[in-house]
Amino acid sequence: MKDLPLFPDSASNLSIHVDGLMGALTLFSVFFAVLIFSLVVIFAVKYKRKSEDERPKEIHGSMVLELAWSVGPFLVLLAIFVWATRVFFMAYAPQPGAMEIFVTGKQWMWKLQHPEGPREINELHVPVGKPLKFTMISEDVIHSFFVPAWRIKKDVLPGRYNNMWVRPTKTGKFHLFCAEYCGTQHSGMIGWIHVMEPTEYEKWLQGGGDLSMTGRGEKLFQQYGCSGCHLEDNKGRGPSLKGIFGTTVKLQGGQTVKVDEAYLRESVLNPQAKIVSGYGRIMPTFQGQIGEDSLLQIIAYIKSLEKPE
Ligand code: CUA
Repeated sequence: MKDLPLFPDSASNLSIHVDGLMGALTLFSVFFAVLIFSLVVIFAVKYKRKSEDERPKEIHGSMVLELAWSVGPFLVLLAIFVWATRVFFMAYAPQPGAMEIFVTGKQWMWKLQHPEGPREINELHVPVGKPLKFTMISEDVIHSFFVPAWRIKKDVLPGRYNNMWVRPTKTGKFHLFCAEYCGTQHSGMIGWIHVMEPTEYEKWLQGGGDLSMTGRGEKLFQQYGCSGCHLEDNKGRGPSLKGIFGTTVKLQGGQTVKVDEAYLRESVLNPQAKIVSGYGRIMPTFQGQIGEDSLLQIIAYIKSLEKPE
């Protein structure tokens, strides 16, 4: 059975729960399909009209029966709903201390990176046992990030960050697919996830050679001139970005906003949308000049800036 590719590896904290639910639903459906089909055949034989003038007995309904087949299935479906919702929350509720993975989908490849790791295309190396948080965005059309062995799948949308959490529990090499038809090469938008022992992962990181994600972000931060205004001592034309991530800032007009990935992205692409209190409307837009993966690198760099004492 194990060699039959019908059943993908069970390689994450979610897979056992997804499999349990899936198995139960399948058994449930098989049970009722067999029951109903058998009864159809049995009743067809048993109640076959024996003679031309035979008339069936009249039936005037049964309250007990009506209630049983209404309330019974209702309770069963409610139980399935509660069960499925618990599994859903496991996959989409934040896990503390997760390692961040940034994903950019593009016709037709996956660009993957974590803050301290080198840039990868259609490949991702992660250590086993550590929770992962995916932040995903598309540069063009809708894609879908699907790792069957982890039992996770989520749409990757243009213009918006989507998140997903998982904890790999098994080392090995696992398929990565795009699960949303996205054009002619959709079937080629595939890759591999390498789950490694932590020591091997460290070794792999050392051998990377490539600039880390925050390193690239820092370079871009200078290249695009961000560092000219967002001075660290808060004396620049823009607010200092040191330690800003995760805090709440006050805007012109008195509202506040929590600094998260979506807010940072918006502030680069559409700076006029939310101006921090005390600053002018002087920042130019970078819409169309910065790609989604560069944006993610800049955000990773801003996140890495430590809070001032
Ligand atoms: Cu990307 Cu299908």
